[in-house]
Amino acid sequence: MGEGLRPYYHKGNVITPAIEQAFKRAVSEACCFVGQTAPNPAVGCALLDEQGHILVVAAHHRAGESHAERLAVEQARELGIVEKIHTVVVTLEPCNHTGRTPPCTEILLTTPMRTLWIGCKDPNPLVQGAGAARLEVAGCAVHWVEQSPNGKELLSLCQALLAPFTWRMLHKRPWITVKQALNSNGTMQPPVGQKTFTSEKSLRFAHRLRCVTDGIITATGTVRTDHPTLTVRLVPDHVARQRVLVVCGQKTNIPVDWLQTAQKRFAISVCPDCAQLPEILAQTSALWMLVEAGPTLLNVLRQADLWDDWLTIEQHHFQNNNDTNKKQNCDQWRVTTRHTITPISLLPEWAECQHEQDKQEEACFPVL
Ligand SMILES: NC(=O)c1ccc[n+]([C@@H]2O[C@H](COP(=O)([O-])OP(=O)(O)OC[C@H]3O[C@@H](n4cnc5c(N)ncnc54)[C@H](OP(=O)(O)O)[C@@H]3O)[C@@H](O)[C@H]2O)c1
Repeated sequence: MGEGLRPYYHKGNVITPAIEQAFKRAVSEACCFVGQTAPNPAVGCALLDEQGHILVVAAHHRAGESHAERLAVEQARELGIVEKIHTVVVTLEPCNHTGRTPPCTEILLTTPMRTLWIGCKDPNPLVQGAGAARLEVAGCAVHWVEQSPNGKELLSLCQALLAPFTWRMLHKRPWITVKQALNSNGTMQPPVGQKTFTSEKSLRFAHRLRCVTDGIITATGTVRTDHPTLTVRLVPDHVARQRVLVVCGQKTNIPVDWLQTAQKRFAISVCPDCAQLPEILAQTSALWMLVEAGPTLLNVLRQADLWDDWLTIEQHHFQNNNDTNKKQNCDQWRVTTRHTITPISLLPEWAECQHEQDKQEEACFPVL
């Protein structure tokens, strides 16, 4: 075959079951730390021996601490198996620059690795390709999932993990997920004396979203009516995580006692005009924000196109066949996303969500 006719991938780019398994384990480990790593992305890494057996799986925990690759190599060293490392699988291209921690390429080059599999390119155009190039120069065979003929599913997984970071890097604001609960009458108003009307399962989903995101956007109407705590309670939370809280509206409309309590838990900003919201969010370290507000703010965000995913939790009452007097609460979850990829797809609840793509699709992963 002539040089010009060579396909853009070669046989070595085919993902084997061992590499697929390693990627899935790396993504799954990284998922444990989504909502804790900002401003860094969640990243996972697996080390394999020459036979394709997984030696170690590790993930980045939080900014300022070791990256996934360094943690994995350190763990292999502690286990006395560093000399067995043959293949490194990583969800994001290893860095080749010194930030708060040394370059990942350096630690990888202390191992006998021969092959590197990369899930996503670094979305930062200033450093993209540098880590892969450094390792290639050192004699390592570098494979990209996006260039693999059977890499589509794995690429989507790695991209979903990276999506909030990529979006912030390219668009200078965090990924925004709106959560809207609608009761069986189609309104957002809870019955008098209640703060919510959704099922326990839906509440757990909402708390999981609070856990994986870096903060909440709310508004003075909700604050004054509900005095919400906005904390993670129904699922395990990251330890000592201080999140961002943006309250849209006038500061004078925020009850003082609520603000004092909220300030103990959150880094609070007040946003009197939503036109300033992207800038206010850009000043925080958040990668992914959750909106929990009433219909007034939700309309503003919709009109301003200031959202990425829109989760609707619809309250549905189904008759229980065995006891016609008893009604079962069985909410329906629907996600409309403006992207081909969404980080919500990594949550266990995604399997129960109906989902659709908004017509005005925006590219989270443009070809750079
Ligand atoms: N079902 C659900 O999912 C859900 C979730 C949350 C809340 N709720 C319910 O929603 C109800 C409250 O709804 P709501 O519509 O009255 O309140 P809201 O949307 O939470 O807050 C409205 C406030 O947002 C501020 N705002 C409006 N436009 C703005 C803009 N362009 N820039 C900055 N701030 C802006 C204004 O504050 P200022 O007047 O201070 O300027 C306005 O009064 C409550 O009953 C609550 O229980 C339901």
